[in-house]
Amino acid sequence: MDAETAVLPILIAPDPGLKLRTRPVAEADADAIRDLIPRMYATMYRAPGIGLAAPQVGTGLRLAVIDLMPGDKPFPITLINPEIVAASDDLATREEGCLSLPGHYAEVSRPARVKVRYFDQLGVRQEMEAEDLLAACLQHEIDHLNGMLFIDHLSPLKRNMILRRLAKEQRQKRL
Ligand code: NI
Repeated sequence: MDAETAVLPILIAPDPGLKLRTRPVAEADADAIRDLIPRMYATMYRAPGIGLAAPQVGTGLRLAVIDLMPGDKPFPITLINPEIVAASDDLATREEGCLSLPGHYAEVSRPARVKVRYFDQLGVRQEMEAEDLLAACLQHEIDHLNGMLFIDHLSPLKRNMILRRLAKEQRQKRL
């Protein structure tokens, strides 16, 4: 597939599509996700971003892609039906951004380490333990699959400030 044509539009907050809980990927979705996954990667790399969840491209499936590009080399991780099965008590705080909130960043505290179970692109069950940026990214993407954005971890004051600024910027972009 040509990467140029594969890019999908990304929903921008407060699009209601970002608040929906996704449904698990089933056998019957095999053809759809075979087409969707390369498009999600193309969209994420183009943006550029390090993670993208299906609801961000208007698809209500429990599916996300991540690539932290360690050492500037691609290292794609396809997460099908991911679940956090364990999380550390200690928290880590780092600045997060999101392709659905372009240009806006805020510090978010989350468990420093998580264990995630998921199926990979070949349908093989996987388990991953992660810390640092990958732990935050996994939690951020799994939040998307539960209809949550990183701003939902902030105080209502901070959240509304970001949403107001974003709405203003989006209006100006359309003029
Ligand atoms: Ni995001």
